[in-house]
Order: sequence, then C-alpha cells, then structure tokens
Amino acid sequence: MSKPYVFIDEALPLSVEKYLTKYCTYTMWSKSQPVPTHTLQNELKKAAGAMLTQSRPRAADIAHAPHLKVISTATVGYDHLDVSMLAAHGITVTNTPYVLDETVADLIFGLILSGCRRIAELHTWVRAGSWNQAVPLELYGQDVYNKTLGIIGMGRIGEKIAHRAKHGFNMSILYHNRSRRPEAEKLYDAKKVDLTTLLETADVVVIMVPLTKETTHLIGAKELAKMKPTAVLVNGARGAVIDEDALIAALKQQQIWGAALDVFEQEPLPSGHPFLTLENVTLTPHIGSATAATREAMAQRAAENLVAGLNGQQPQDIVEN
Ligand code: DGY
Repeated sequence: MSKPYVFIDEALPLSVEKYLTKYCTYTMWSKSQPVPTHTLQNELKKAAGAMLTQSRPRAADIAHAPHLKVISTATVGYDHLDVSMLAAHGITVTNTPYVLDETVADLIFGLILSGCRRIAELHTWVRAGSWNQAVPLELYGQDVYNKTLGIIGMGRIGEKIAHRAKHGFNMSILYHNRSRRPEAEKLYDAKKVDLTTLLETADVVVIMVPLTKETTHLIGAKELAKMKPTAVLVNGARGAVIDEDALIAALKQQQIWGAALDVFEQEPLPSGHPFLTLENVTLTPHIGSATAATREAMAQRAAENLVAGLNGQQPQDIVEN
C-alpha cells in the first residue's frame, strides 16, 4: 500500500524527518517566508495530512482538500487554526501540550527579571558606551524576591511559573482563571482572585491565557489604569491579548513601570514599531519554547499526532472543538 502524502509548512529536525519517512511521503516548506496561498491550496488538494505550524488555512483552501484528515501543529497555541471550520470538514486538529511547559516558564522568568531589573535596557546602555560613570539612580531596578506575582491564565505553564516564583523567589502568588487550581493553591499558596484585584495588587502581572474571542484585548486602557505605577507587565501568550495601542500609551506616560513582551499582534514586529523606541520594554521574538531540545520534542510530538491521525488511530493531543 502506498504511503499517505503530507504537507509540512516549516523545516523539521532531521530526527523527526526520519520518523515521518517511515509512515508517509511529504513535501516540507523550508524557506523563511510564509507558504504562499496558492502553494498551500495546491498542497492541501493532494494531502491526507498536514503539519501547519505557521500557516492559517482558510475555508477556501480546505474546500478543495478532499483527502485531508488531520492537521497537526507543533505549537501548544492553535489560534492560527479555525478548529470549528476544520471540524465541519471532518478534519482532526492536534497540538503539542506538556513538552514545552518548563521551557516557556524559564523564558517568562527571564522576562520578569529583565523587566524588573532593567537587564535589556542596561545591556543596551552598556553597548552604547554609556558606562563611563556610576549607574544613575533612575536606572536602578526593582526587587523580584518577596514581591507579588499575578498570573492571568493558570494552566500548566502558569503552574510552572508559580513554582519558580514561590520556591526560587519567595513571591506571593495571585491568579485569575476560569476554574480553581487546587494543586497550585496547595503547592504554591496561590490565591484565586478577580481580575481587578489581581491588577491592583500584583507587582508583576504575567499573561498566559490562550487567544480566544473572550481574551482578545483582555488588557486594555481600563485594565492598565488599575495596575500599580511600579508594576511590570509580562506577555508570554499571544500579542492580541493586550491592546497594544493602550499599552504603548501607558508605557509612554509611565502609568506602569515597564513591560516585557515575547509576543505581538504583528509578528515579526515591523520596523518603526513604537515598542522599538520605548526604553522600559524588553522585547524577545516569540521564543517561549525556542530551545533546540524543546522544539525537537514539539516537532516529534506533532509528527506522532499526525501519523496517528493518518492511520485512523486516536492522536494523543486532539484539540477539542
Ligand atoms: C506555542 O507553542 O504556542 C508557542 O507560543 C510557540 O508558538
């Protein structure tokens, strides 16, 4: 029997390619620019499965994909995939939870530390040759140890952040989440509070919610106005959870102390973007899970989900519609 044909929209580690070769034939898009619409359409016409980590297939692309059974993404977030539209076409969607939790939590702590201790800002200051004097008082940072951390979205990654905050930095932890997280309450003394209480109380606010209709612009001018003037806002989820125009205004007016952002409404961040001109912001290029080991584990898990879907088995990480 011939192997099923698969389209993959980004380069995979060799080990994952070797695994896939056993189960399917495939075309892999390895250019740095996104897959053009006509290429995606032509590929999906032929494919029984696809690994789409970067592309956003539209209903028009799927309408001409009669054999497509499964779309797997090598990410935990799947806001680039219209799950209900795909389900209506009988297509299973899978993602890659669990394997990236610790790695993302590490990066979030890097952002918390950079935001509070001005690491990125002072790095730029040193490189610019400004360190020919004592560091001026106005460039001093703030402590992280013993402060209050507010986590918006206490899922698996939120809990890993809480672990680091409690055991590494003796922070008090507040969280805002749809459901209670009894484990986090027991292990890290975390307290579930409403959004306003969290924003008004936390010294550091970390956003970890998935992007949905309900969380789009969850943090806007009204919410930023509730934060302490000394607070730092960290976003490791998706850019559109924050109303960026409102955040830029708040940072310019020093209504909050700073921000540390790994994700943006438009990625890559376009040149000339106002964030690039603000000193009180640490910027990283959506690298929450980007260590070699973790990205390989995510690609492998996505490949296993894809193969299971192609073989008519139950993939381990089906996204519920
Ligand atoms: C994820 O897996 O969702 C990370 O944000 C990488 O995109």
